[in-house]
Amino acid sequence: MSTRNDQPASGAQGVVLVTGAAGFIGSHVSAALLRGGHCVVGVDNFDPFYPRDIKQRNLRRIEIQASGGRSTQGSFEFIEGDITDEQSLIAAREGRPLDGVIHLAARAGVRPSIDDPVGYAHANVTATACVLQAATKLKARRVVIASSSSVYGDNTKAPFREDADVSEPISPYAATKRACELMGYTHWHLTKMPTAMLRFFTVYGPGQRPDLAISQFMRKAMNNEEITLFGDLSTSRDYTYIDDIVAGVIAAYQRIDRFGYRVWNLGNSSPVTLGRLIESIGTVAGRALRTRNLPGRPGDVQHTYASLDRAKQELGYTPSVEFLKGLQMQWEDLRSQQG
Ligand SMILES: NC(=O)c1ccc[n+]([C@@H]2O[C@H](COP(=O)([O-])OP(=O)(O)OC[C@H]3O[C@@H](n4cnc5c(N)ncnc54)[C@H](O)[C@@H]3O)[C@@H](O)[C@H]2O)c1
Repeated sequence: MSTRNDQPASGAQGVVLVTGAAGFIGSHVSAALLRGGHCVVGVDNFDPFYPRDIKQRNLRRIEIQASGGRSTQGSFEFIEGDITDEQSLIAAREGRPLDGVIHLAARAGVRPSIDDPVGYAHANVTATACVLQAATKLKARRVVIASSSSVYGDNTKAPFREDADVSEPISPYAATKRACELMGYTHWHLTKMPTAMLRFFTVYGPGQRPDLAISQFMRKAMNNEEITLFGDLSTSRDYTYIDDIVAGVIAAYQRIDRFGYRVWNLGNSSPVTLGRLIESIGTVAGRALRTRNLPGRPGDVQHTYASLDRAKQELGYTPSVEFLKGLQMQWEDLRSQQG
């Protein structure tokens, strides 16, 4: 399927290829690029990790930006294709000059990667090699790639700094993300194409992936179902609102040419314990949640906590969405879908 809302015009800021455009973060990033006047070509294969209709809803969010009054210069084209097939990527350009690539497609999720390390290596590492090779052939001017806070493993001193030792990832997913960072470095070394690696810290907000805790807990809260909690209530995550992440991705895209190869944390630097998360979702739901506790599961780290010194100084990245407010927006979005 190829959805064309508009022929990509020669927008002032060039064509940006976004992989994983139908996903949670990719759809928000694409919409923001359109608002900024970019022409976006999105590629996604509707990987069955979660239902296609959720991804189609994400695409509608982009299409509204492309056809709505707020986007005056940008245009959006969607190509259904697998990025491990080079032709999908080459087709995305169709002879037009490519400004850059924002590579967000991946198999995400820590726990499922333990059962399918081979699938994760293919979807993440092989796919990233394909994207980097295509970026070279298509003469992209820059590339921005999604990494993950999971690369810090369980032994990193908090808050996690980008120059910490990341040689001990504790899940196949984290290991694939670290491998992608290393491939990004090699790509920059060989081609001198500016290459940014972004370590996202658990992203939430409207459209959040359905496998992630906030999304799951909210759906259960809506149906007054019992929520299973794994691990100690003191485990914590540095939840980061989607609009803050999008601002960081766009800043990295705009500034990476000053740095060559660079890794940036995009987090909130304000970890929330599992106990506080449950209380906070109870607050937005207007009722106490029913929970039961089970032991922690292998592959899950105890804590995540971003140092933002580098991202603040070099990207001007300053996350601003307060946790309860962000939860409220995700809750409202979920309610609008359900009813
Ligand atoms: N959401 C988070 O909290 C978080 C945290 C850290 C890192 N990340 C990373 O950010 C990126 C985006 O995450 P997300 O939460 O939006 O995930 P997502 O699953 O919603 O989006 C990823 C998209 O990539 C697509 N895709 C997968 N394999 C593909 C292939 N071979 N060809 C084409 N498309 C393919 C999927 O269909 C999906 O739509 C991923 O790289 C993920 O690892 C996310």
